Amino acid sequence: MTVKLKPLFNFDNLPTPELIGNGLTGKDILSVEQFDQDKLKYVFARAHEMRELVERVGHCDLLAGKVASCLFYEPSTRTSASFIAAMERLGGSVIPITQGVQFSSVSKGETLADTIRTLEQYSDVIVLRHPEIGSAQVAADYSRVPVINAGDGAGEHPTQALLDLFTIREELGRIDGLKIAMVGDLRYGRTVHSLTRLLTQYDVSLRFVSPEILRLPLTIMNHVIDAGLDVRETHDVADVIKNADVLYVTRVQKERFTDLAQYEEVKDHYVITPEIMTQAKEKMIVMHPLPRVGEIHYTVDHDPRAAYFRQVKNGMYIRMALLAAVLGRA
Ligand code: ASP
Ligand code: CP
Repeated sequence: MTVKLKPLFNFDNLPTPELIGNGLTGKDILSVEQFDQDKLKYVFARAHEMRELVERVGHCDLLAGKVASCLFYEPSTRTSASFIAAMERLGGSVIPITQGVQFSSVSKGETLADTIRTLEQYSDVIVLRHPEIGSAQVAADYSRVPVINAGDGAGEHPTQALLDLFTIREELGRIDGLKIAMVGDLRYGRTVHSLTRLLTQYDVSLRFVSPEILRLPLTIMNHVIDAGLDVRETHDVADVIKNADVLYVTRVQKERFTDLAQYEEVKDHYVITPEIMTQAKEKMIVMHPLPRVGEIHYTVDHDPRAAYFRQVKNGMYIRMALLAAVLGRA
């Protein structure tokens, strides 16, 4: 009698990298438009696992041998540091060009295309922040390794929107049915642009609070209207504070203004204070992508509804989840 031994591994049944990353493996992350509900659920579930991993053991070797280039043409604290922390906690390593490209050959006049074509020789993924809208797409066109958009001018900041959405769900337990108010620089704020686009997939009410010159761009507003959401614009925080479940406050983006006098006019338009917070619901959250430069008074930090530093931490879990998915290791 011959006994047929069961193989230790059935290689036919191993998930392909494509399945591991739920369609994200090997892909660029350029815009939130790439994320449908299925992908969002996948990334959030993986981010939960990453939180558990970090809280229980701190790190693992999932991305051992993988290298990420972090190429930042604009200042950053959170995005750059959290991508580096994410790579390191997953056992990978980083080429950090985050302390100012003036110390790289960019200052000698090297183009974005050549810089990308150089970094792809050393790395498995490139994380790029750049002042021009569309720059991440340009980089992706030149790169054979995936490019992750860490902010392209006043365009998009997709990984921030993912961590913002994740934070809302973690803090309030749901997204559908919420009243979300965005305050500040809605014109140039790329985090607002990405988060708003992502929220059109949900049944939410949106309130946009800004000075006239910083209103949400029409293309994004049309997107919201086409999605059939309940939406209103106002200049006054008082119009939204009582009903908001989420107050998403933003910095006026000084670096995008061509006329600094105009910046001076609007820079201190909104300041969230403990007094304003007395009018807000007991169960709501205040968010901010940070850095803040006065829009939320420091005394608000003691309010349990101030979620912005918890939001910062979620950024690391989301970026760990994204890197693992893009690099096909889960
Ligand atoms: N850090 C965010 C960004 O880079 C928001 C800000 O800078 O105000 O878009
Ligand atoms: N939220 C955010 O993008 O922060 P940094 O500009 O510090 O990266």
